[in-house]
Amino acid sequence: MKREMIDYHCHLLPAIDDGASDLQESLRIAMVLARFGFTTVHCTPHMIRGCYENLPEHVVRNTATMQTILDKEGIELHLVPGTEHYLDEFLPALLPHALTVGPSNYMLVEAPFRADADVIPSFTSILAIRGLLPLIAHPERCKAFAPPSREGGWRAAFPAFFGRHHEPDEQVSLMHHLLQSGCRFQGNLGSFAGMYGDEIQQRAILFLKQGVYSCLGSDSHRSADLETMLYTGYGVIVAEIGESAAADLLAGTFRT
Ligand SMILES: [Fe+2]
Repeated sequence: MKREMIDYHCHLLPAIDDGASDLQESLRIAMVLARFGFTTVHCTPHMIRGCYENLPEHVVRNTATMQTILDKEGIELHLVPGTEHYLDEFLPALLPHALTVGPSNYMLVEAPFRADADVIPSFTSILAIRGLLPLIAHPERCKAFAPPSREGGWRAAFPAFFGRHHEPDEQVSLMHHLLQSGCRFQGNLGSFAGMYGDEIQQRAILFLKQGVYSCLGSDSHRSADLETMLYTGYGVIVAEIGESAAADLLAGTFRT
């Protein structure tokens, strides 16, 4: 039986955000993903108010159309409609009808790259009120998850989240606290391949070794160099944690 390989984050749908520019480009991306071995692809266009307004019905309709086209073309991928939500002030209003990651209660969310870490716990609480949990996209690319430089580490930076009584010099990982509260993290294969630079690659490897990630995504926007990126990124992961653990991660270690 073919082993499941799941792309949890992909901009495959044509002309819907800054991903695939047209149907032909979508098909090229789909062919690369299928050739690499992905069996399921979560179609996760951006939903950013005032920029990419991809509401659920629109994404569901586009995903179904794309699935029909892939089936006709003989490209074996199972598509799942999803959304890459943006952590901003407009997110709470979207929550009642937002697309989750498959049938789970996780929502794929991205933090603005330059946002400070203190926005994360507050959004986690807002999702929790609705019974939702964040699957945080590519934390290695977000400043919010860069190692803390402030004296006292994460605990000192977020007393309301961690509690006020703590040793000021105690270093506590915000990410592990978020994991304990049910958050999950999705790593980008491109980060491991070095496509966003050395610093992000090293951070991705550090998070990988710390067991932060529950799943991976191609975060594909275009077909150029995609195949090389996938193989290079996966190769780095295999080199760090071994074939078996890497395959588990590619299948997704959290259940939807
Ligand atoms: Fe994305």
